[in-house]
Amino acid sequence: MAQINAKFVTSNTDFKNCPPARFPEFAFIGRSNVGKSSLINSLTFHKGLAKTSQTPGKTQLINHFIIDEKWYLVDLPGYGFAKVSKEKRKEFEKMIFDYLIHRENLTCLFVLVDIRLKPQAVDIEFMNRMVEDEIPFYIVFTKADKLSQKQINESVEVYKNFLLEMWDELPPLFITSAEKHVGREDILKSIDELIQTSPYRIGK
Ligand code: GTP
Ligand code: MG
Repeated sequence: MAQINAKFVTSNTDFKNCPPARFPEFAFIGRSNVGKSSLINSLTFHKGLAKTSQTPGKTQLINHFIIDEKWYLVDLPGYGFAKVSKEKRKEFEKMIFDYLIHRENLTCLFVLVDIRLKPQAVDIEFMNRMVEDEIPFYIVFTKADKLSQKQINESVEVYKNFLLEMWDELPPLFITSAEKHVGREDILKSIDELIQTSPYRIGK
């Protein structure tokens, strides 16, 4: 298993203050509590790199980490978090969408969904918005350790069929468990492949 060097860089509320766009960038998004920060810790094998919590709404900033001095990994706040005020939610949304739309080196977004749930309106709306805005994304199922293999297959099948009702083709899908470090290698491999063709790759 390759050792990964991961370092926290900055936390921001405004994409304009994010670190210089010198490396390919990969961001993780999804509903609050879906497991974004946990998956980042699993990917990097750094417990506690990204702050996790049982309480939704833990991550409230755009958090940049630099990996192996060659790509940025970004932990984003969750969307659809009901427990904050309407104004606060608007603020979060603006912060997230400004970042997604304007961050020039954002190479691919990983959209996380809980594998135990049927397709949720908030996730589907978000993905459709990404399609409209032409922001490339992959779908990541989280918390696979909570289901049996049979249930995992069923859940993924339901999701795929739902998406194929709307779209002609599917983005790459990943099945993960941060708890059991499942799916880690697949995600890292896909990131590595995308880095190879990124105009932001160092030494290109
Ligand atoms: P916000 O920052 O609040 O938006 O949440 P988040 O998406 O970053 O979720 P976080 O990683 O903080 O995890 C939320 C809860 O889910 C925590 O209690 C985690 O321990 C749990 N969790 C995350 N990933 C997994 C997983 O793969 N398996 C299991 N069983 N629990 C998980
Ligand atoms: Mg988080």
